[in-house]
Amino acid sequence: MSAKLIDGRAIAEQINAETLAAIAGLKDQHHLTPGLAVILVGENPASVAYVSMKDKMCARLGIHSERVHLPAATSQGELLAVINDLNFKREIHGILVQSPLSPPIAEEKVFAEIDPTKDVDGFHPLNVGKLALGDPTGFRPCTPAGVQELLIRSGAAIDGAHVVVLGRSRIVGRPLSLILSQKAANANATVTICHSRSSHLAEICRSADILVAAIGSPRFVKADMVRDGAIVIDVGINRVEDKGATKGYRIVGDVDFEEVMPKASLITPVPGGVGPMTIAMLMHNTVRAARMRHGIE
Ligand SMILES: NC(=O)c1ccc[n+]([C@@H]2O[C@H](COP(=O)([O-])OP(=O)(O)OC[C@H]3O[C@@H](n4cnc5c(N)ncnc54)[C@H](OP(=O)(O)O)[C@@H]3O)[C@@H](O)[C@H]2O)c1
Repeated sequence: MSAKLIDGRAIAEQINAETLAAIAGLKDQHHLTPGLAVILVGENPASVAYVSMKDKMCARLGIHSERVHLPAATSQGELLAVINDLNFKREIHGILVQSPLSPPIAEEKVFAEIDPTKDVDGFHPLNVGKLALGDPTGFRPCTPAGVQELLIRSGAAIDGAHVVVLGRSRIVGRPLSLILSQKAANANATVTICHSRSSHLAEICRSADILVAAIGSPRFVKADMVRDGAIVIDVGINRVEDKGATKGYRIVGDVDFEEVMPKASLITPVPGGVGPMTIAMLMHNTVRAARMRHGIE
């Protein structure tokens, strides 16, 4: 079976166009400009790059954006104070703290400090709880929400499908398993979640109608782990050395794309699959936060 590529960039652009139209409506009808604050601690090159991509997308879509760049030596108390100020800032509707944060700062303390109505990353315990309870009023984490949106817009049948999620992290695997197992449209999947202690991993993967890899291990998923005709979503972003590449490395996913592609009915590339969806969903969530704050939704 020959695979069809899921074009994450094109689907993200559809969502961005919808967000742009929604922002124009908010500005025209409600004189309201959605605002996003992104807090970056330290100089982690990947985090710096992600934050500037978010800034650029805000500028493109007409979202007011504020970047708060704090030194690596910032204490947890100082960071919480910055979040607290943003919680009260009227022109800011969404707050994001770029992860990973380094010890001694405890991420869970930081995420819990964000006003849950401004928690556009969906990591506050209240929003995690709402997702677990099936309450749609909360915010959902952007990457797993983006995976669901990719599946929907690619015409994948999620309802009743067996979805195997590799990875149980707080930001991808766990929330994705909750999103796709909701008793709701575009969900209703039977979800198996696997992790580093799972037995019979290859066998479980072979039973998937939809296989999602989110483990951070380059080209881990091989052809013999995928059944003919399965849908394969690759969340992984891994740097591997490549002396021939201009930067000396290249980005690959958690799936061995060349091996798996011929077996899959649909598959995401890396880059150009899930990655662009994460930012598109962040922009979408920011607009939603602004609407909710002003009672428009
Ligand atoms: N596209 C995007 O926008 C986006 C966003 C976020 C993350 N990512 C990428 O997605 C990947 C996962 O990120 P993450 O933050 O979820 O990672 P993480 O926090 O490190 O979690 C990795 C998960 O994978 C499991 N795992 C690791 N090796 C495994 C193996 N060999 N077999 C089975 N399970 C294994 C771990 O199991 P244990 O729980 O047992 O340790 C853990 O649950 C990374 O490559 C990351 O860069 C991409």
